[in-house]
Amino acid sequence: MPIVAYVFDAYGTLFDVQSAASRNAAAVGPQWERLAEAWRTKQLEYSWVESLMGRHPDFRDLTERALDYAMSAVGVPGGEVRGALLDAYRTLDAYPEVPEVLEALKTRGARLAILSNGTPAMLADAVQAAGIGDLLDAVISVEEVGVFKPDRRVYELVEKHFGVPPAGVSFQSSNAWDAAGASAFGFRTVWVNRAGRPREYPGEAVTEVRDLSALVGMDI
Ligand code: LAC
Repeated sequence: MPIVAYVFDAYGTLFDVQSAASRNAAAVGPQWERLAEAWRTKQLEYSWVESLMGRHPDFRDLTERALDYAMSAVGVPGGEVRGALLDAYRTLDAYPEVPEVLEALKTRGARLAILSNGTPAMLADAVQAAGIGDLLDAVISVEEVGVFKPDRRVYELVEKHFGVPPAGVSFQSSNAWDAAGASAFGFRTVWVNRAGRPREYPGEAVTEVRDLSALVGMDI
């Protein structure tokens, strides 16, 4: 089956989650990279733990809680910088190749969407800041099903929106665990391994690329 829709994870795949801390590096201090790492790690951990507990605080809540933990763990004092970091998270930088890759796929006639843990408001702000709204046919939030990835109900939202079965969907994520979940669900899956990390999750059928440019000119 040909690819009908290209669906993208948001944070870390289209939007550079490190950019919130790097933009505020002067205020945070030399430990800004450690802060960014701890912030992201805890945000994701909370999403899995809350889901397993059958609860669903939204991703905005988890992002704030994770930041508070990370600031405390890394030793960054609170105050104005907390607000600046959260504001920056709403308008993260897109990775440089994102606009041109989306345009090339759109020109081919593909349907394009985001499928993300983010709340609709968070995603709307990020899409607007990146200037990619006109290229996307749908911005799909897990809030429609009230559970986080990699729950299968999240991946099912693509068929609900586009009427396309999993075999006609190319799903892109920089998160190995999200790529594994998408692949287990039945999407054609691309792992955007920006950081050059080792393979995880044995048995997953994912195509590994270094950034999204590889999608252009290839049927993956
Ligand atoms: C997302 C997170 C997992 O955008 O990166 O869904």
